[in-house]
Amino acid sequence: MKKIKIGLLGLGTVGTGVYKLIRMRSDVMERTIGAQLEIKKILVHNKNKKREGVDESLLTDNWKDILEDEEIQIVIEVIGGIEPAKTMILEALKAGKNVVSANKDLIAEEGRELLDTAQEYGKDFLFEAAVAGGIPIIRPLKQCLAGNEITDVLGIVNGTTNYILTKMFEEGMEFEDALRQAQKLGYAEADPTADVEGLDAGRKVAIMASIAFHSRVVFSDVYTEGITKITAADIAYAKEFDSVIKLLGVARNTESGIEVGVYPVMLPKDHPLASVRESFNAVFIHGDAVDDAMFYGRGAGEMPTASAVVGDVIDVARDLAYDCTGRISCTCYRQIPVKDFGE
Ligand code: HSE
Repeated sequence: MKKIKIGLLGLGTVGTGVYKLIRMRSDVMERTIGAQLEIKKILVHNKNKKREGVDESLLTDNWKDILEDEEIQIVIEVIGGIEPAKTMILEALKAGKNVVSANKDLIAEEGRELLDTAQEYGKDFLFEAAVAGGIPIIRPLKQCLAGNEITDVLGIVNGTTNYILTKMFEEGMEFEDALRQAQKLGYAEADPTADVEGLDAGRKVAIMASIAFHSRVVFSDVYTEGITKITAADIAYAKEFDSVIKLLGVARNTESGIEVGVYPVMLPKDHPLASVRESFNAVFIHGDAVDDAMFYGRGAGEMPTASAVVGDVIDVARDLAYDCTGRISCTCYRQIPVKDFGE
């Protein structure tokens, strides 16, 4: 049986999920893609740390062990952050490897350079897990809905803040207590400021807007306002109007340009996004042909995020089988101006 060898960069929450899921599904993959997926090496910071259920012989702390291994055809980057992830992805693509990444920070800032490099070298660069974890949203925007002029993308794309708002709204919980619980459940970023100030959602909005509107929107274009100023009085006020408060990521393509922002919104209870509770995410889209469409599911966590990463890996494996890598990374841009918020 043919083997497709993988180098995994990072073995945190998502990396561990990816490792488990690839091993769990190996027989199904054999049947569906006609090849076995094998994680050959895993890049970690500290090789001596005890890790339950992981084959220690795969661990390395030297990136060159993966980069220079000619058998490795797919690199999965789940380290996060800008550097060294960016350099590693560029080096991997230039060395002829395909890359799957879950790195929203990097893609929201430098996605264009990474995609251009993938295209130049004829390799796949896929990042379904970078937005809304397990919910398929990048591929639907890029492929399934490509026949539409998309005008609106509205999303609850941060599980931590949705969890906090749900607990404050339904149980009268204090902000700090709800945040602590979200951290315990593993939804929050290492520094939860990125969650509660809307920065994490802002990165996801930049990525979705770029793809939905075939344009280039970066994180610094996105207006962000978080949920730290929401008070019990705001919640009581929303209840009085039969509404809920949600932190919404908003991307609109208007006559005068693209509008992108993240801010708390009072949503009437009958709006489809109002029923998205706890740490769930959802993205609501309007296109001229499809009309309204909504995508709902788990936007964070070990296995939901691994689900998106492994889906990308299987797509790359199929492209390798048919010798057509580079096809799905290909992008075409038009540049629509991004408006200042409130303009
Ligand atoms: N901190 C993020 C969230 C994780 O709460 O949604 C997934 O990006």
